Amino acid sequence: MLVALASLAAGLMPLQSAAADPLLDRGRYLMEGIVACGNCHTPKAANGTPIADKELAGGFAIDAPIFHAVASNITPDKETGIGNWTDAQIIDAIRNGRRPDGSIIGPPMPIAFYRGMSDSDAKAIVAYLRQVKPVSNKVERSVYKIPLPDSYGPPVESVPDVPHTDNVAYGAYLANGLGHCMDCHTPLDKGRNDMKRLGAGGNEFGLPGGSVITSANLTPANKHGIAGWSDMQIVSALKTGQRPNGSHIIPLMAFGWYKNVNDEDYVSLVAYLRALKPAE
Ligand code: HEC
Ligand code: HEC
Repeated sequence: MLVALASLAAGLMPLQSAAADPLLDRGRYLMEGIVACGNCHTPKAANGTPIADKELAGGFAIDAPIFHAVASNITPDKETGIGNWTDAQIIDAIRNGRRPDGSIIGPPMPIAFYRGMSDSDAKAIVAYLRQVKPVSNKVERSVYKIPLPDSYGPPVESVPDVPHTDNVAYGAYLANGLGHCMDCHTPLDKGRNDMKRLGAGGNEFGLPGGSVITSANLTPANKHGIAGWSDMQIVSALKTGQRPNGSHIIPLMAFGWYKNVNDEDYVSLVAYLRALKPAE
């Protein structure tokens, strides 16, 4: 009897530890939510939905006047993905835009924003990346018509956690270091985000088919936009892609991921958007 119980307990052990892995849970929450690396790194079917069994396998092309960028395969496949990289090398790629061979990762990967990602969240994302299904998919090389920088700034070695005590401060972390909202929504000045006009919008994005859309002004100056929406309407727009008037926001944003962001984080995100400096 005793032996049977002991072996039963032993048999249960791996299950229990698999269920309780806070680092992986955090990684999953981030990756299936606000961080949404898959919006660029998971190839999409013709109807725009991400192909589930090719999660993070790369090959999705993003075109702009200055580049034809192809998102890399970031599954654990050893030949065509990042299966041979160490944790520190993956974190270096995310926050410093540098591969193990020293080469620089080009746009539109939002490195300038990921520089603010905390050590523990970067580790949580790595934990998630490790358990994604390896997919063999050799991706064509990106072409840049501009020289890439030598670096994105002094190497980021360590970033402390942002405590979730102050909604505006935590919302800033969500919208910058994790979700890079402010990358698309901050106007460019000489190719870089003009941080004096954070969230003022106006960036143009080419869509497949040739049309161009402009990112919205998210600051309180936009009386026709979110400044006039209730908190719930903003959250609903991010979860569903639908504005309060029923019109659809063009799906460049990761609505399929943002629907998994929890209420607590949305409270902070909205508080931050409300606190942005009004900019026309
Ligand atoms: C806006 C699109 C976009 C987002 C979001 C994005 N990436 Fe990327 N990423 C790219 C592109 C494009 C490349 C290839 C750039 C090049 O060819 O230099 C790339 C390259 C990489 C590489 C280099 C891989 C290699 O083999 O060279 C890694 C690692 C990576 N991304 C990880 C991530 C992770 C992790 C996230 C989320 C935290 C993320 N990326 C979010 C677009 C994106
Ligand atoms: C890849 C670029 C990109 C990212 C990342 C991004 N957005 Fe957007 N966003 C856009 C574009 C482009 C539009 C305008 C789409 C349209 O005109 O239909 C838009 C529209 C919006 C709107 C609708 C505003 C209005 O007045 O209609 C809101 C709200 C919004 N974004 C908030 C956010 C938040 C919050 C985040 C981060 C969680 C975010 N966006 C991340 C590109 C982006």
